[in-house]
Amino acid sequence: METSIKKPSRGRKYSMTSNDEIVSRSLDQGKLVRVIEEIIALGGIDSKRKYLGNLKENLLSTQSPLLKNAEERADQDTVSLPYLLGEIDQAMSAFTEERMNYYLRRLSRSLGAKRNNGVNDLNLNQWKKYKDIVTDSYWHLERRESSKGNSAWYWGNFVPQIPRQFILRFTRKNDWVFDPFAGSGTTLFEAAALGRNSIGMDLNPETTAKAKDALSTLQDNHGVMSMMIQGDSLRDDFKQILKDLKAPSPTLIMLHPPYFDIIRFSQDERDLSNSPNLEVFLQRIYSVGKKCYDILSENGHLVMVIGDKYASGSWIPVGFYSMQKLMETGFTLKSIIVKNFEGTRGKRSQEELWRYRALAGGYYVFKHEYIFLMQKP
Ligand SMILES: C[S@@+](CC[C@H](N)C(=O)[O-])C[C@H]1O[C@@H](n2cnc3c(N)ncnc32)[C@H](O)[C@@H]1O
Repeated sequence: METSIKKPSRGRKYSMTSNDEIVSRSLDQGKLVRVIEEIIALGGIDSKRKYLGNLKENLLSTQSPLLKNAEERADQDTVSLPYLLGEIDQAMSAFTEERMNYYLRRLSRSLGAKRNNGVNDLNLNQWKKYKDIVTDSYWHLERRESSKGNSAWYWGNFVPQIPRQFILRFTRKNDWVFDPFAGSGTTLFEAAALGRNSIGMDLNPETTAKAKDALSTLQDNHGVMSMMIQGDSLRDDFKQILKDLKAPSPTLIMLHPPYFDIIRFSQDERDLSNSPNLEVFLQRIYSVGKKCYDILSENGHLVMVIGDKYASGSWIPVGFYSMQKLMETGFTLKSIIVKNFEGTRGKRSQEELWRYRALAGGYYVFKHEYIFLMQKP
């Protein structure tokens, strides 16, 4: 099939051969690259603009199933029609030919070879399409997004967006994710939905059983394993657990421990929320952190989600103290993310009381928590 675009002959209205052919070109990223390269090779910004307009019209007129199905999903490598049209529009609105060529070359690269940083499946040549991946250090999450099979039954869970963001950024398909304080299993549900294997551990037998049950109803798990086990993250041997499960080193560990004693998750003295004092809690964070460090793959990532507390007239920076403990185990701190925190249902109903207390006591009501991103060097 003819793929090159003909220059318009003198006196004739330009055309890019038959419409059908253009339509079929637009279906094939390889052919589309050749068309764009040919447009780059044309002389003059005006003729380039005309050809781009023609290409855009053809892309818009197509009913191609491929274009229709090309959803803009972060874990897919196909280019969607809106993305293509946006890139073409940007090139067409360039004021100089040099700038136009720059946009066209970037588009050509995004359609061609994949560029990747080695720790995820994102194609850096298509970085603009990953609109749902957050790269800022302040996260304002309006609401809990629907999780793939998990419901928000657990008091003290985190929103699915948190594990999802890190799984997309710091793991590849079929990698392993570990969550030593898994609770209702939010991390495991998100991992399965994105085609990653996962292991979750929780001390609480009822919580673990409930999470296990819910995981067993997973409809589509991309053929990966999601294993929820009951155990004590403080004392159990993580290396042995991986060995028993015949699992390789995880590339990502999601750590969502109790925020010291803010919510008591059980009566069990091994539960971190029952630590007798802050010092013991922090020692425990260090111990779990060290074991995580030891099993994590080289250059793997660990994420800790944690908040502060207020006691006896002073703000206790549980988050920063815990961050410090993890860094003492050898981790490099990559980012501190501040995330909005709307409080628990109980607190919401007492909002006025908190506000009164804050005004009277000279402090500020918690509206944020921390997400610390660490890497094993
Ligand atoms: C903040 S919650 C985690 C919630 C989880 N991210 C979710 O989305 O459901 C903390 C969890 O740590 C568990 N936990 C506390 N101490 C533990 C320990 N020593 N070993 C394992 N799990 C523990 C609690 O039972 C609780 O479920």
